[in-house]
Amino acid sequence: MEQRTNISVPVSNRVSQIPKSAIHEMTRLSKEVDDVAFLSWAKPTSGTPEHINRAAIKAIEEGKTGGYSEPAGLYELRVEIVKKLGEVNSIEASAEEIVVTVGAIEGLCAAVMAVIDPGDEIIIPIPGYSSHVRQVVMASGKPVCVPTVEEEGFCLDIGAINNAITDRTKAIMFSDPNNPTGSVYSKEELEAIAEIACKNNLIIITDEAYEYFTFDGYKHHSIASFPGMKERVISSFTFTKTYAMTGWRIGYVHASKELIPQIKKGHIPFAICAPVVSQYAAVEALRGSQECVDNFREHYEKTRNLMCERLDRLGNIFEYQRPKGSYLMFPKIKLERGKDSLGFAKRLLKEARVSTTPGVAFRGESHLRMSFCVPEKTINKAFDRMEDYF
Ligand SMILES: Cc1ncc(COP(=O)(O)O)c(C=O)c1O
Repeated sequence: MEQRTNISVPVSNRVSQIPKSAIHEMTRLSKEVDDVAFLSWAKPTSGTPEHINRAAIKAIEEGKTGGYSEPAGLYELRVEIVKKLGEVNSIEASAEEIVVTVGAIEGLCAAVMAVIDPGDEIIIPIPGYSSHVRQVVMASGKPVCVPTVEEEGFCLDIGAINNAITDRTKAIMFSDPNNPTGSVYSKEELEAIAEIACKNNLIIITDEAYEYFTFDGYKHHSIASFPGMKERVISSFTFTKTYAMTGWRIGYVHASKELIPQIKKGHIPFAICAPVVSQYAAVEALRGSQECVDNFREHYEKTRNLMCERLDRLGNIFEYQRPKGSYLMFPKIKLERGKDSLGFAKRLLKEARVSTTPGVAFRGESHLRMSFCVPEKTINKAFDRMEDYF
């Protein structure tokens, strides 16, 4: 799995060194299994809310969607984003500080491109979202992966992050709430990161894709809202998770007036602009009722609880940290054979018809990632099968 692509025609070392995605490999293998219980994807299985679909259809019917928008995105959308950033994230922004992107992922790519030169380092806490590492590699940078503390809910190891800083370090990059662990960083942890960034003149790149999905009273904090931090934080957000808009490919980045033109220069050659029809849908997502978001969050809290209960019954096989947020969890496999998480996940798929994602994909070997953004019956089916199997 984690091997380089072997190609005889010239391709860049930069790209060919990137291993095949274990997530996509598991998806491909899952298609070969009949009636699979699928816990592999971090993709909401509910559809996009109807009022958002309708707004897109209306924009098409009115002939508004056939051309490009401004590269930074429709002004009316950026105005709605500014309101949301103020109300939800306590970030005081202006429309000039926003770039609407092709999902969070393209915004993050543009941000990394804007921040590093070849050989520069970005510190990434792990286990972490695999695309962050790839984005740094694609920009000819060096990802410096620093383990989090699993026993304390995968919290940040501030001392280890401090020790990882060299004169090539340009940034610290993380998702919070976290994919794959479900951790939510506390205000104190983020304040410590902010202090490190200021002391060492670093940029912080955040991926806040799961910002709305926290449980048990835990709160998500945007580090850009902390005093004096706006100038050195690039914050990325998405409609993908919040409004179940995976396929619309729409997100946005916020950064200071000084940084944002550089990020826009990274964004244009990749995308020109985000899909215009999706931008109109996004305007409605922000202006319309937010009840759908509350419903998603309530559903994920229920499915999180159910998955934890079912994992408790498999206590001889897995141990886990209860997710404080996102819709993902990252149980550790207690068995010797779990040290090869890819082999373990493949066998679980073939022999128990349960699809998970091997921890190695997130630099968290001996773990499996399981998604609870699925109906309760899928979780029960998967765990009934695992109970029989083990
Ligand atoms: C942490 C994180 N960031 C970004 C993404 C991708 O978001 P988008 O669809 O907005 O590009 C995902 C998708 O799984 C994710 O888990």
